Amino acid sequence: METIKLNNGAEMPLVGFGTYQMTDAKECAEAVAKAIREGYRLIDTAQAYGNEAYVGEGIRQSGVPRAEIFLTTKVWFRSYEPEDCRKSIKDSLEKLGTDYLDLVLLHWPFGNTYAAWRVLEEFYLAGTFRAIGVSNYAPSQLIDLIHFNKVVPAVNQIETNLVCQQRELREWMSKYKIAHQAYAPLGQGRANEMFAGENIRAIATAHGKTPQQIALRFLTQEGVAVIPKSVHEERRRENLSILDFSLTDSEMEILRNMDENRPLIGSAQDPLKAEFAMTW
Ligand SMILES: NC(=O)c1ccc[n+]([C@@H]2O[C@H](COP(=O)([O-])OP(=O)(O)OC[C@H]3O[C@@H](n4cnc5c(N)ncnc54)[C@H](OP(=O)(O)O)[C@@H]3O)[C@@H](O)[C@H]2O)c1
Repeated sequence: METIKLNNGAEMPLVGFGTYQMTDAKECAEAVAKAIREGYRLIDTAQAYGNEAYVGEGIRQSGVPRAEIFLTTKVWFRSYEPEDCRKSIKDSLEKLGTDYLDLVLLHWPFGNTYAAWRVLEEFYLAGTFRAIGVSNYAPSQLIDLIHFNKVVPAVNQIETNLVCQQRELREWMSKYKIAHQAYAPLGQGRANEMFAGENIRAIATAHGKTPQQIALRFLTQEGVAVIPKSVHEERRRENLSILDFSLTDSEMEILRNMDENRPLIGSAQDPLKAEFAMTW
């Protein structure tokens, strides 16, 4: 598996497996175990997904040693006060059945983010976390966090797909050596028309791939790591099989032009999304 070198030297797989909305214990554990056996080496979960115990079970069932898996979780913003954050971390470690994590993220830039970041720094400097990062952060929020703290986030995990490419954000992130990891790289199924256009279908046919594979290949070729989720084996295999071909410069340009700068999930910078988040 190709990897991205993070700003602290740790290697993060370019393609990983997302587990959002996998709340059924059996289905989640099975999907994680199978994904690992199929070749995935990065598993993405979060305290807020309510499935860390099932993800941990899936990792054990896979039979692949923990050391070969890059495991990410996230702290929910209601747990950002220092004691709550420590408790959340202890809980995640217990549920996942591990004594270390490869990457821990602040899930959203709301609440006492500074306090939570300093707790993450403690665990990182003590060696419990191999890397720490953030999610859903805008450039100004990254700059603020970096300026007043010790550790520069290694990753910003943010919605990124063909209609929401985040190119300006990526330029700022590369200035600070923060890796870009795309969540909802297939748009979470909310804008499947992006896979139906004539241009993307022609590119897919030319490479003997599906439009979804073209979308994932496009992101990885832009240097963006992806974590697509699927409970279907065929789709998981498809999503993993994107590094055995390259898109041409003109194909890349056609796909760049599909950007509508349109978040499908909602961005933290959208006041309506922020108001809604406060009800969670
Ligand atoms: N940090 C954050 O705030 C945040 C927010 C959202 C997500 N995430 C993370 O990012 C991961 C990925 O994002 P996501 O799950 O929201 O969306 P996604 O991966 O873009 O899309 C998942 C959806 O696409 C379908 N799908 C998957 N592969 C497909 C294929 N090859 N062809 C057609 N349909 C396909 C899946 O259906 P089936 O499962 O039925 O196959 C599911 O409905 C999450 O699982 C989670 O780990 C993070």
